[in-house]
Amino acid sequence: MAEKKLPGILELTPMNPLFNENPHALLDPLREQSPVHRDTMAGVFVLTRHADVRGTLSDTSMWRGPTRAEEAAVLTRAQLERRDEGVTVPEDEFNTNILMLDEPDHMRIREPFAKALYKRVAKSKPLVQRVVDEWLDKIGDAKSFDVMADFAIRVPIDVIARILGVDEARLDEFRTWSEGAILSLNPFRSAEDSKRMVAAVNALSAYMRALMAERAKAPKDDLISDMMALQAQGAALSAGEISNNLQGLLIGGNLTTTDLIGNGIWLLLTHGDQLAKLKADPGLINSAVEEMLRYESPVDITGRIAPRDMEVGGCPMKQSQSLIFSLRGANRDPQAFPEPHRFDIARKDAPHVAFGGGLHLCIGAPLARLEAQVAILSFFARFPNARLANAQEKPQWRKLPFFRGLQELRVAA
Ligand code: HEM
Repeated sequence: MAEKKLPGILELTPMNPLFNENPHALLDPLREQSPVHRDTMAGVFVLTRHADVRGTLSDTSMWRGPTRAEEAAVLTRAQLERRDEGVTVPEDEFNTNILMLDEPDHMRIREPFAKALYKRVAKSKPLVQRVVDEWLDKIGDAKSFDVMADFAIRVPIDVIARILGVDEARLDEFRTWSEGAILSLNPFRSAEDSKRMVAAVNALSAYMRALMAERAKAPKDDLISDMMALQAQGAALSAGEISNNLQGLLIGGNLTTTDLIGNGIWLLLTHGDQLAKLKADPGLINSAVEEMLRYESPVDITGRIAPRDMEVGGCPMKQSQSLIFSLRGANRDPQAFPEPHRFDIARKDAPHVAFGGGLHLCIGAPLARLEAQVAILSFFARFPNARLANAQEKPQWRKLPFFRGLQELRVAA
């Protein structure tokens, strides 16, 4: 019998209906039969074993840089940088996003950002609770609503806006720009969405520069003021690096956290025993959110480049070889997680890789965890009888490369 062809990286995206419906029907056989899989068409290796993914990500000698499978998304940025879509972002912001930088620039920029962000997040619980309550109040006593549009999309944007220090009077504009800028993550967007994206990116960058200038003169209690103070105290950061990476917190943190909240609520609504467990013991929320990150990871993949000729997972590879890490595949590896396809909010010792690892480990992880914990507990406290509006309907996963989240999540309260 002829062997079934193993999927390449282009089939491992939500644009492929099979992957969109059940990614593990493709990822499980790939991990079993070819855990370090050479995709000759794309010229990349795809890794699906937890030990290989975690081990290689924590190798600090690996290069980041844009890998080939991420080319589509990077191309968007490249197009922006060529200004052929009308972008007017200042030149000094180009190629300064820490996600795509290598040492020494990566850590030079990341360290002061991480220091300032972690301090802010550590005291943000009351803010997150306030934002969550505001949006739950707006849903009020509606009998049916969309958890994504009415709640999960709202919380991360409003929280980061307040942490950054966006003026209350500009909050609505900021929400529109954030939603527009996120369109840059979709290489298949329509011409109309491209226009919206360009307008949003231009407006966001201009507003960020204006706020930076204001806060340098008159600091307030916010992250922009923190970054301007660090620069004044001698941190080696240019204005372009600060502006672009402040915007990066938005782009990197909004959709991902939206999806963690949406996927988490959906998982509980479709696993009644687990929801009952959480209601009986809300102290399980920390391990519940970790299990949501593992079981339905918001980000599919990340990448690195081999810095020298080396062996990865027993496979020899040349310097400059692109490696793609399937975070979703690694998070369901039976070698790392007993009964990996069981959703268990009390699971212990489950070192998932949903936030990547090593030098580029997600800088927003503490904020994402806090938002999801507060949002999910508060949601079920407010709507204890929430259930899927149409339990027969299949979930509608978004068709956006690299991310897994619901297009809509209709519930009856
Ligand atoms: C559930 C929510 C989130 C998920 C699943 C997620 C996932 C990831 C992943 C997979 C990476 C790449 C790590 C690697 O290559 O090793 C990353 C990097 C990053 N994330 Fe997140 N993220 C989330 C939320 C956030 C938030 C809330 C922020 C900002 C406030 C943020 C900002 C960033 C930044 C700036 C980087 C680049 C770090 C670096 O390259 O040093 N993320 N994230």
